[in-house]
Amino acid sequence: MKDSVSAQPGYFAPEDCNLDDLKALTAQETTPEQAPRAAEILKNIPVYQMHDISADLADEKTRAQLMAEWAGILLTGPGVLVLRGACRNSGALDRASQVFEEIIAAEKSAGGEGADHFAASGANDRIWNALQKLCERDPETFMHCFASPGIDAVCEAWLGKGYQMTAQVNLVHPGGAAQLAHRDYHLGFQTSEVSAAFPAHVHALSPVLTLQGAVAHMDMPVESGPTRLLPFSQAYLPGYAAWRLEDFRAYFEENSVQLPLEKGDALFFSPALFHAAGANISSDIHRLANLLQISSPFGRAMETVDRTSMCKLLYPHISNAAVNGTLSVAERAAAIAAVAEGYSFPTNLDLDPPSGGLAPQTQQAFFHQALEEDLDADTFADRLDQMDARRLP
Ligand SMILES: [Fe+2]
Repeated sequence: MKDSVSAQPGYFAPEDCNLDDLKALTAQETTPEQAPRAAEILKNIPVYQMHDISADLADEKTRAQLMAEWAGILLTGPGVLVLRGACRNSGALDRASQVFEEIIAAEKSAGGEGADHFAASGANDRIWNALQKLCERDPETFMHCFASPGIDAVCEAWLGKGYQMTAQVNLVHPGGAAQLAHRDYHLGFQTSEVSAAFPAHVHALSPVLTLQGAVAHMDMPVESGPTRLLPFSQAYLPGYAAWRLEDFRAYFEENSVQLPLEKGDALFFSPALFHAAGANISSDIHRLANLLQISSPFGRAMETVDRTSMCKLLYPHISNAAVNGTLSVAERAAAIAAVAEGYSFPTNLDLDPPSGGLAPQTQQAFFHQALEEDLDADTFADRLDQMDARRLP
């Protein structure tokens, strides 16, 4: 296969894309050496069982080895992996599903018709910023849904510490049509013209700025339309210029794969992977997934999230979970990482100078410090507001 960067040093235009290059990439097979800790490899997708890897996740050194394995899978391997049983609290998932249905009903009765990219209206309901909306309506349930050391580790494996969690719920009813093949945020959400105006090296950068995930809130057999995926396609560098081309889309239709998911399973993939939601051809399955889009601390997330208010809502619940021992340290850290800002910048360095290093304390670091110091909720909230005020221009 030709080296696309050296063949097209500069920019990628649709006419430069060659389907044979994608065919060569996607002809690869995932080997056990690429995913030694996976329980199995199905249709080229490594599938991990949480109970197999929980001991690895509990030790710093083996956790790092596992994260390196996942980073390799997402970067140059198949570009996708599954964590079976990523969310162990089935009751919390059910309660969250109930909350999501209430939000959908409330937003519909308020007259909102949330535009959903790639989907025909009617067969599909979407909740934007489901992260904050669930946290506001039921912070205890939110905490249990996001207290997943596996999800925390895969986000950190791809994006590093301080990643920014966002979530968008997708509910696809029977008869919901399949999506067309596409790539995701950042460059995947730009028009062909805008995407083509970014230099080639930014096409390589875009995928490492986000991670795509989906948590199954119910069992999703193939007839309900779980995401169709084309393993190894994320490594096709000119892919942002290619995914709208008819021959590429036809190739995707013939070669994409689907895995059934069970409630609590989580699927993660590179945003550069060619993918598309499947058709829900079932007669009675209302497919509900919480789609996670996680951003690098160095990138701009797709959605604005009021992390300060979420921290205030979550703090008493995390504090109780620590006292009662209902969540482990790693589970609490995962839930905190899903809400609290994990990066120091941008800030106002006149008001918020670095303390003990080159970067001011993050909201996430302060959350952990407050738990250690056993701050009461009011003091915690006041200190968060002071931190926010120091960051303003
Ligand atoms: Fe997508």
